[in-house]
Amino acid sequence: SWKMGDFVQLEIARIRELVGDKALVLGAVSGGVDSTVGAALMKEAIGDRFKAILVDNGCMRLNECEQVKETLGKHLGINLTVVDAAELFLGRLAGVTDPEKKRKIIGSTFIDLFEQEAIRIEKEAENTPNSGKVEWFLQGTLYPDVIESLSFRGPSATIKTHHNVGGLPERMMNGQGLRLIEPLRLLFKDEVRAIGRQLGIHESLVNRHPFPGPGIAIRILGDVTKERVEIARQADNIFINMIKEAGLYDQISQAFAGLDTNRSVGVFGDQRVWGYIIILRAVRTKDFMSAEVFNFDNAFLANVSRTICNQVEGVARVVYDLTSKPPGTIELE
Ligand code: XMP
Repeated sequence: SWKMGDFVQLEIARIRELVGDKALVLGAVSGGVDSTVGAALMKEAIGDRFKAILVDNGCMRLNECEQVKETLGKHLGINLTVVDAAELFLGRLAGVTDPEKKRKIIGSTFIDLFEQEAIRIEKEAENTPNSGKVEWFLQGTLYPDVIESLSFRGPSATIKTHHNVGGLPERMMNGQGLRLIEPLRLLFKDEVRAIGRQLGIHESLVNRHPFPGPGIAIRILGDVTKERVEIARQADNIFINMIKEAGLYDQISQAFAGLDTNRSVGVFGDQRVWGYIIILRAVRTKDFMSAEVFNFDNAFLANVSRTICNQVEGVARVVYDLTSKPPGTIELE
């Protein structure tokens, strides 16, 4: 058995050995614990030759970009560029309802932007002490992602496409000769958290519930529009804040509010409304490969429902998802 205490030093040494003393490493960060720990390890290993990119895909949680700038840029001192691509993503997602198509569009748009950033970063580094080629791409892949993307349901269908597993498309690997660096690929989530603490990352980030790369787009059943993302985002923020106020956040592994684009009828005052259905989900799990539904008090859920209906325009009904994993996945799509 290996000691967690050794991991950081061993991994930093491995990264230095792999990357050498000239190459640049590009890494996508999201504000989650995995990408933050990955980025912090890279920063420790190679300093400013690690370049972090935050792509705003228009489907992130409320105020998330600002929080990432604060934590990674200011607190951890990581070289961070924020790419505002909300319009690009939402444009490409317009009218798309199939979950796998959504994931593919989002994944390939991320890669388009990483390619552009790799070129921009090399140009920017020219004639500086850190001039070099972008040769590596950081991914915060965890052990369960590796296992799950190798799993099969039935004779041939993989369970779900994880856009962050399985390497980059040929054009990025061959075209630009990028190689993947995955410092977390042998770790479970609780181990990543322990390492985050060791690296001095703030407890509120270390304990943050996971959030998928495609973001709110895979929490909207049906096609994604800016208005729908905004509604889901507001509802999610209310739900999470109420969970925190009730002191339940750390007892739950992952919670969120999603949106069903089918609409339901309600009465608000003397008005008849026809609004979206918000789906609340909260699960407990050790490894995210299976999960059980969290048991809230009915009174708590009724209060969340009332608050969302009152505060988020366009919502007519709120439901709580009682499906464990399996058969349900944690995300709605
Ligand atoms: P599922 O929905 O597959 O989720 O039960 C298991 C865990 O993985 C996260 N997840 C993703 N994370 N990109 C990510 O970075 C993705 O495409 C993705 N899909 C699911 C999910 O949030 C949960 O923690």
